[in-house]
Amino acid sequence: MLDEITRTGRQFDSALASANTAREIDEVRVHYFGRKGGLIPALFARLKEVPKEQKKEIGDALNKLRDRIESALKEKSERIASEEATRKEARETLDVTLPGRAPRLGHLHPITIVRRELEEIFVEMGYSLDPGPEVETDWYNFGALNFTPDHPARDMQDTFFLDVDQLLLRTHTSNVQIRSMERFKPPLRVLSCGRVYRRDEITMRKSPVFHQAEGFLVDKGIHIGHLRATLEQFIKRLFGADLAMRMRPSYFPFTEPSAEVDMSCVFCRGKGCNTCSQTGWMEILGSGMIHPQVLRNVGIDPDEWSGFAFGFGIDRAAMIKFDIPNIRTLFENDLRVLQQF
Ligand code: DAH
Repeated sequence: MLDEITRTGRQFDSALASANTAREIDEVRVHYFGRKGGLIPALFARLKEVPKEQKKEIGDALNKLRDRIESALKEKSERIASEEATRKEARETLDVTLPGRAPRLGHLHPITIVRRELEEIFVEMGYSLDPGPEVETDWYNFGALNFTPDHPARDMQDTFFLDVDQLLLRTHTSNVQIRSMERFKPPLRVLSCGRVYRRDEITMRKSPVFHQAEGFLVDKGIHIGHLRATLEQFIKRLFGADLAMRMRPSYFPFTEPSAEVDMSCVFCRGKGCNTCSQTGWMEILGSGMIHPQVLRNVGIDPDEWSGFAFGFGIDRAAMIKFDIPNIRTLFENDLRVLQQF
């Protein structure tokens, strides 16, 4: 039995040497001390059968083995626990000097950037914002704006008509003039930005959906000088204080007189380049004094009130401002493009 005790000790040493986790050590512990089938209690049980004269020697050897195994298990499990604690601490160390990880921020779309800038400029001039509906009736898009049913000016705005209730997709944001003037009494200053639709051919500069800003003002004694000063202020703030502006006579059914407005080409600052066909000018908006018939259509007396209006292409402004050659770039949602703004 002494041999068996020695063998058990050696087997234990090799079992402990290959146990490297708390769990493995526990398995070794159960193997030697487990209540059911543990090797050490089994050896002690066999002491009964040992002849009297050998009992002391074998008993001492057994006690020694038990104590050695117990303390070896204890020592190794403590060592492993403390190693594990050190590793955990290392993993969880907080380095407060590391630079922070910035969250990935989105980007405003170029159209949104220009729209917000426009809104800011006009809100500062006392304008209210009114988006108006994109699906319209013929009356608000054309009729009330003095386009009579067979008016040739309707051809300038090739329209998407809907199958239901003679509705259409608005071709311009001028519908908001009528809707705002119906709802609110003058004096009025309104800016309206939104999507508009036309069945135009698709080119580098034209898309069936695009964005416009419509501004208008109605008050007492308003004349074309107010219009000019407002537009000049707006162009200089949006595109640069050094730019000049000019007005050319034009025609819109809802304004009289009407003017097309040009500003100095932003690329050559008026000197003449390929973008402006060497003219030094870029056409950027339509405008005019609100036609008396339009005021009458919404119940405003043109002898008492007068006003001006203007319409402006937001996409075109974004293309000019950010030097984007193709309007479709604005609608393709290509992150490689959009992340640049
Ligand atoms: N609604 C016109 C268009 O889409 C633009 C425009 C021209 C608006 C003159 C106006 C204006 O308010 O006075 O072509």
